[in-house]
Amino acid sequence: MTAVRPDIAPQWAPEATDFPTGFVWGAATAAYQIEGAAAEGGRTPSIWDTFSHTAGKVRNGDTGDIAADHYHRYRDDVQLMKQLGLKAYRFSVSWSRVQPTGRGPAVERGLDFYRKLVDELLEAGITPVATLYHWDLPQELEDAGGWPQRVTADRFADYAAIMAGALGDRVGMWTTFNEPWCSAFLGYGSGVHAPGRTEASSALRAAHHLNLAHGRAMEVLRGQLPAGTQTSVTLNLHQVRPLTDSAADADAARRIDAVGNRVFTGPMLRGEYPEDLIADTSHLVDWSKLVHDGDLAAISRPVDVLGINYYTPTLVSTPAEGAGDSRNDGHGASDYSPWPGSEHVAFHLAEGKQRTAMNWAIDPNGLYNLLMDVTRDHPGLPLMVTENGAAFDDYVSPEGRVEDPERIAYLHGHLAAVQRAVADGADVRGYFLWSLMDNFEWGYGYSKRFGAVYVDYASQRRIPKASAHWYSDVIRRHALPPADHS
Ligand code: FCB
Repeated sequence: MTAVRPDIAPQWAPEATDFPTGFVWGAATAAYQIEGAAAEGGRTPSIWDTFSHTAGKVRNGDTGDIAADHYHRYRDDVQLMKQLGLKAYRFSVSWSRVQPTGRGPAVERGLDFYRKLVDELLEAGITPVATLYHWDLPQELEDAGGWPQRVTADRFADYAAIMAGALGDRVGMWTTFNEPWCSAFLGYGSGVHAPGRTEASSALRAAHHLNLAHGRAMEVLRGQLPAGTQTSVTLNLHQVRPLTDSAADADAARRIDAVGNRVFTGPMLRGEYPEDLIADTSHLVDWSKLVHDGDLAAISRPVDVLGINYYTPTLVSTPAEGAGDSRNDGHGASDYSPWPGSEHVAFHLAEGKQRTAMNWAIDPNGLYNLLMDVTRDHPGLPLMVTENGAAFDDYVSPEGRVEDPERIAYLHGHLAAVQRAVADGADVRGYFLWSLMDNFEWGYGYSKRFGAVYVDYASQRRIPKASAHWYSDVIRRHALPPADHS
């Protein structure tokens, strides 16, 4: 097995290498990133089909039309997961595949794809974890106003009911949304994600309606799913750090924490929007009109597990008046900020850290701190790392292998961080590697490879990278190997 390069090896040698009994080992994907078959079986376009087909939006003009062709290859993909020893698989459902146009009756052919996928997983002894929404709103709902419109939350509840009806008997864990921050603020604020709108107030309205949709869907899921079924939502909580210990930088960190994190955790976990968020954004939206009576009660319906996606920390400062723009927030280049009300905050790349192909700093402590912060703020809340991983410039060697020691080191460091958080009292129930296989990385198209499995897009051949074998070994041992034996 590949040796970990010493310069990027984890900085501590874990002593207690065990993970809790029942800790779930998984890998994650999302519908638009892997399925392809964009126009098959009655599927209609989502906002990501429209966006990726719009010139200049996605690198190299890449689209998800074919992607990793998982729609046709799901059986083989499940066999691969089984060979790797995965215990769980987190996938998302393409809304416009099962309910074309986002309204009205479901299409059986669309549902059948997910029924067959889930049956195949169960047959292979792999627990399916279904996400209802990983960013692909049916285009017709965007044409009717999209997430800035309240009615979209009603549409989502109807869709949740369809899915609970179709798969509720065999999917034991459901996630309403993946990273609603990206849907609201990259989709409607900076416009680097679909639908590509750049309207600060619409982004905040979208955030509330995504929260509301989560709450409405939770009610539907609770009402329809068998007792014991787990419900969750996945957030990309930003591990925000001030650049210096000045009061101005502390304020920058507070602001980004508000519009990056507490805009979701506030209503979902505390039943209220943070006062400082409202103050920072009241020139953009009238929160008293946006939030109706009863909304907060609906949104704060308890989840069984909070999903957390973590890749890199977020370093911020308040720049001196007139200082140039430095928005290295890792969320893609745009003239428009995804931070409504806090457009002046500067973002920095951490010095002295290794970076991934996304230019994201590698910092496992960020994951440890994040898990501990959430545990401190919400004691007893069960957590699940629903995404963590890294893109590197992988290639197939002449011998047909993909050696990715950087990814192994990344995973090792972050799993050790999870282990430390568990030892220090965080209730972390599982870990899902992003991603099972290389796929369509949104605005970056196919240029960024996050997979544990390499995909040769020309032939659609799958080649497990060295990291896939390493992860497989970790799962089998239910423990991390010593760093120098990786
Ligand atoms: C997350 C997304 C996921 C993937 C990773 C790299 O924000 O949820 O689809 O793009 O980043």
